Amino acid sequence: MVDLVAAASRSGRMRVTSDAAEAVLASEISLICVGTPSAPNGSQDLSAILRLAADLGRAMRGKSGGHVFVFRSTIAPGTVEEVIRPVVERESGKRDGEHFHLCFQPEFLREGTSIRDYDKPPFTIVGANHQAAVDKLRQLFGHLPCAFHTTSVKSAEMVKLCCNNFHALKITFANETARLCDAFGVDPFEVMGLICKDTQLNISSAYLKPGYAFGGSCLPKDLRATLYLAKQRDQELPMMAGILPSNRLHVERAVERVLATKKRSVGLIGLSFKTGTDDLRESPTVALAEQLIGKGLSLSVFDPEVHLSKLLGANKKFIEQHLPHIDTLIRARIDEVAAASEVLIVSLNDKAVFARLREVVRPDHVVIDLARIPESSAWPCRVEGLCW
Ligand SMILES: NC(=O)c1ccc[n+]([C@@H]2O[C@H](COP(=O)([O-])OP(=O)(O)OC[C@H]3O[C@@H](n4cnc5c(N)ncnc54)[C@H](O)[C@@H]3O)[C@@H](O)[C@H]2O)c1
Repeated sequence: MVDLVAAASRSGRMRVTSDAAEAVLASEISLICVGTPSAPNGSQDLSAILRLAADLGRAMRGKSGGHVFVFRSTIAPGTVEEVIRPVVERESGKRDGEHFHLCFQPEFLREGTSIRDYDKPPFTIVGANHQAAVDKLRQLFGHLPCAFHTTSVKSAEMVKLCCNNFHALKITFANETARLCDAFGVDPFEVMGLICKDTQLNISSAYLKPGYAFGGSCLPKDLRATLYLAKQRDQELPMMAGILPSNRLHVERAVERVLATKKRSVGLIGLSFKTGTDDLRESPTVALAEQLIGKGLSLSVFDPEVHLSKLLGANKKFIEQHLPHIDTLIRARIDEVAAASEVLIVSLNDKAVFARLREVVRPDHVVIDLARIPESSAWPCRVEGLCW
C-alpha cells in the first residue's frame, strides 16, 4: 500500500489533504471509508462518519456543480438515507438526488490481501437512487474483472453486513464441525475438504433462498443426533444448537401472521414437508396446522400428494400423532378449501396449483405465501409473504 500510494502521489495523479472542502471542490466523486467501530452496546459508532458528513455537506454549500458521495464504510441498512442524508442536506442547504447523490458501494477487500482483492473483487455492488450516479461509478469501477450489480442503497448496505455474517457463519461451521470430528477421532480437514467438493448442494446457491422453515425426515433428525453426539463427548456446538430453535421461530412467525389477520378459518394448500412428496414427517406445515388448531381456528387442507389411505409406516404414525383428525381436514379439491377459508396458506410450490388457486380466490381472501408465488401482486386479493 505504502509503495502504491507513494507512486501515485509522485505521478501527480493523487493529492492528499485533510481539508474535506478542498477535496470535494476539486473532485467529482468522494469515496468515504472512515471507521465504523462497535459502540459498547454493539451498535455502530457513527461519530466519525457523521462528523465527516457534516464537513462534506458544508463543502457542498460552496460547490456549484454536482457531486457523488459514495459511502464504502460498512454501515447498517438505512444509515445513508435516514441518518447521513439529513446531515448532508442540512449542512449543504441542498438536496440528495438534485444537487448531489448519496450512494453506497460495499467494499469487499480483505486486510492483508487488499490490493489483490481491490483488483479482483467478487463483484461490484452499487446502491444508488439515480442512473447518473450509477454511470459515474461504472466509469470508475466498470473495468474491474467482475459483475457490476446495481440495487437500492439499503440493499447494498445490507449485502455487506450479510456477506460478513455469512463468512463468520462458514468459519464457525467449519470449526464446530472440527470440534465434533476431533471428539470422534475423525480428520476434520478430510471431512471439510470433501464437503467443499460438493458444488451442487453444499458450496452453491442451494438452500440459500428465503422461504419457510425446513422439516422432513432428515434435517431435524440428523441435527438432533449431531447435538446428542456432541453432548456425549462434552462438546458444545452453540451455532448448530441454535438452528432448530431458529427454525421454530419461523413457524411461529407464520402463526403470528395468520393471527394478525383476525380471521378464524384457514386453508392449507400443501401439508407435506416438500412439494411433490407425501412425506409429512416433521413437516413445518403440520407444525403450523397443530398450532392453529390449538388456537381454536378451523382448518381445511389440500395437498394433491397426500392420500391418507396410502400413508405408511413412520409417515402415517407421525401424522396420527400430530394431527389425529387429519381425515376430517383433508379436502379433495382446492376450491373446497378456498370456499371454506378466509385465509389461505400456500406452501406447495407448483405452477398448476398457483394457476388453479388464482381462479378460485375471492377479493376478501388473505393469502399467506410461503412458496413465493410468481406475479402474486396481480392477484385479486391480498397476498402476504412471510418476510417479503
Ligand atoms: N478493513 C477491511 O478490510 C475492511 C473491508 C471492508 C470494509 N471495511 C469497512 O471500512 C471502514 C473502514 O475500515 P478500516 O479497517 O479501514 O478502518 P480504520 O479505522 O483502520 O481506518 C479508518 C480511517 O478513517 C480515517 N478517518 C476517520 N475520520 C475521518 C475523517 N473525518 N476524515 C477523513 N478520514 C477520517 C481514520 O484516520 C482512519 O485512517 C469500516 O466501516 C469497515 O467496516 C473494512
